[in-house]
Amino acid sequence: MTPWQLLGTADIPNNGGTLRLAQRDKEFSISLQGVRGELMNSRMHSSELALADLGCAPIANTEKAAVLVGGMGMGFTLAAALKATTESTKITVAELVPEVIEWNKGPLGECAGFPLNNPRTLVHLRDVAELFQDQKPAFNAILLDVDNGPEGFTRADNTSLYSLDSLHAIRSTLHKGGVLAVWSAWHDPAFTTQLKKAKFKVDVKTVRAHKGKGSKHTIYLAVKG
Ligand SMILES: C[S@@+](CC[C@H](N)C(=O)[O-])C[C@H]1O[C@@H](n2cnc3c(N)ncnc32)[C@H](O)[C@@H]1O
Repeated sequence: MTPWQLLGTADIPNNGGTLRLAQRDKEFSISLQGVRGELMNSRMHSSELALADLGCAPIANTEKAAVLVGGMGMGFTLAAALKATTESTKITVAELVPEVIEWNKGPLGECAGFPLNNPRTLVHLRDVAELFQDQKPAFNAILLDVDNGPEGFTRADNTSLYSLDSLHAIRSTLHKGGVLAVWSAWHDPAFTTQLKKAKFKVDVKTVRAHKGKGSKHTIYLAVKG
């Protein structure tokens, strides 16, 4: 079997550790150096597509909608959001690690068909949490996949993203009827309760990691009524 080849490393801001990009034939892996392990693998991306398909379904025919994707990873969610929305819809992608955007401009970008090249894509190189600070309605859908679930995994600082205060701020950033969709590798009923406390209407979907097979992942769909 072809051995993995390390293509690059990147520091996660605020002492978050190191991200590693590796390739083996056509397969790519982004992992966290040390014991935390793999963050994303290109072979299994069905649930990353489902995050966009489910989160954007209510605005599939809406003109001039606005979608926020956090973060970039391998671009599968971004590419699916571009496909699932109208040509007049803009998709903002917030990414914490600048190198991830650079990697997606190179061979890694082939995985999702170079969605950064789409003129409807806008890139914000920053912590996605900063986009919730204004607390003014700006988005019709927010697709969040920055950790492995609703707790800080990529970096400890992300834990606050899933707090009640943060969920209130995210809700304020959505237009009426807007959807917050959150990807998770597991189902955490406490997070459903937290979303409800933040006044979202919540639906929880189970999706498979790879073409109807593989691990079960969870998508929380939280609607601002
Ligand atoms: C699991 S990957 C996302 C996978 C993506 N859904 C896809 O389809 O490939 C997580 C991404 O979120 C980024 N990230 C982590 N914390 C972030 C934050 N607070 N703000 C923005 N991006 C963040 C990571 O650098 C990484 O690129």
